[in-house]
Amino acid sequence: MPTPSIPVSATVADLRARVGTWRREGRRIALIPTMGALHEGHISLVRLARETCDRVVTSIFVNPTQFAPTEDFSTYPRTFDDDCDQLARADCNLVWAPGVREMYPEGFATRIVPEGAAEGLETDFRPHFFGGVATVCAKLFLQVAPDIAVFGEKDFQQLAVIRQIVRDLDLPLAIVGAPTMREADGLAMSSRNRYLTADERRIAPLVHRVIAEVAERVKSGISVDAACADAAATLTAGGFRSIDYVAVRDAATLKPYDPAGGAGRVLVAAWLGKTRLIDNIAI
Ligand code: PAF
Repeated sequence: MPTPSIPVSATVADLRARVGTWRREGRRIALIPTMGALHEGHISLVRLARETCDRVVTSIFVNPTQFAPTEDFSTYPRTFDDDCDQLARADCNLVWAPGVREMYPEGFATRIVPEGAAEGLETDFRPHFFGGVATVCAKLFLQVAPDIAVFGEKDFQQLAVIRQIVRDLDLPLAIVGAPTMREADGLAMSSRNRYLTADERRIAPLVHRVIAEVAERVKSGISVDAACADAAATLTAGGFRSIDYVAVRDAATLKPYDPAGGAGRVLVAAWLGKTRLIDNIAI
């Protein structure tokens, strides 16, 4: 196994010893939670964290509890050496890479079940998902004890759920949301984009185009229902196999959007062949 290009902790004890030293030195610490298979979107989170923190820890853990048995846990891309090289180049200080048994030791039996922002949208199609995400993120926050944790806005509902659990459980860190990084044709960067065939990759940017159009149409006074129904029809006509949702929600609460109220957000999840793409955009 080649020597990692960056320090790697694989046990909670080793992680705490390293982070404890930084704490005693008065360093400000950031955490970037990831499942690896890193791309420029993840690296932009490291760069953002670097702007306000002295030390950056990136966790790489493909979390089994957020995948249903029918989902892609076993085939999820694992590119650890390349991830470490990218993180070293981005000036990350430490990779936190626990094994499944370190994260969930024999007898582990606790699960956080978020409501509120977790209701609807992703939960209608992946009911297990936010329980797994909330539990692993709470563990990551307690293990690393960072001042901030940075999450991409691409997983917009996930970001809202994380903000909610930090607020509800009085976890002592700030959550920072970072803008979605896009390819030149508008496709949101995602580790799962590598599943797309060449034909699917050509079609995929339609997701971004239709939600941008929904945002414009709703702004111009078209009804949310009509704009979302047209967007779903455009995706289907464009080659998408099935549409989980195209929805417009309040950006802060994810409750139904009221044009007279706060900011809105258009969110989409749709299947292109075997790949599920999600994206969102501000109104
Ligand atoms: O967004 C992800 O990569 C994962 O859901 C997260 C936040 C790292 C939890 O496993």
